[in-house]
Amino acid sequence: MNEIKKIATDDKEKFYNYMNLKLTGLICEEPDWLANLSNASALLWLLLDEINWAGFYLYKNGELVLGPFQGKPACTHIAIGKGVCGTAAKDLETQVVKDVHLFPGHIACDAASQSEIVVPIVHEGKLIGVLDIDSPIKERFDEADAKGLQKFVDTLNKYMDWSKIV
Ligand code: SME
Repeated sequence: MNEIKKIATDDKEKFYNYMNLKLTGLICEEPDWLANLSNASALLWLLLDEINWAGFYLYKNGELVLGPFQGKPACTHIAIGKGVCGTAAKDLETQVVKDVHLFPGHIACDAASQSEIVVPIVHEGKLIGVLDIDSPIKERFDEADAKGLQKFVDTLNKYMDWSKIV
């Protein structure tokens, strides 16, 4: 397996290009969705600074259900429209939350979380789930993170066969 090195995160465009290259390497020849989302969450956890949770919730039976992640154990079911994840899933829009305490209905899985970004995963017009990342510092995420993580989700969409998700 190709070595994955920690690289500087100050140039976010360069950083996310590197991360997406590594994601492609990890998933492009692997058909198993669980293996791929597990490695994707491990990659986020390894490369992103100042985060305390990174992973996926998947859309199943009309709600979000916890998927592969890194960090502390988290809530397992989130209703569409609830919390940051449920809002991203309902509106199909990325949520960049600079202070989770100011987000109405934020679901605190880890009391350490101060800011959060959630990117919906939408494939062929259908909600697949969300990518969720929490940080223990306020204002950790900005539009450059949203753009870079959208590319991350685009890469997942390019290589993953979501129809196999059980
Ligand atoms: N904070 C999220 C819940 C999931 S945890 O952050 C892992 C929310 O408000 O939807």
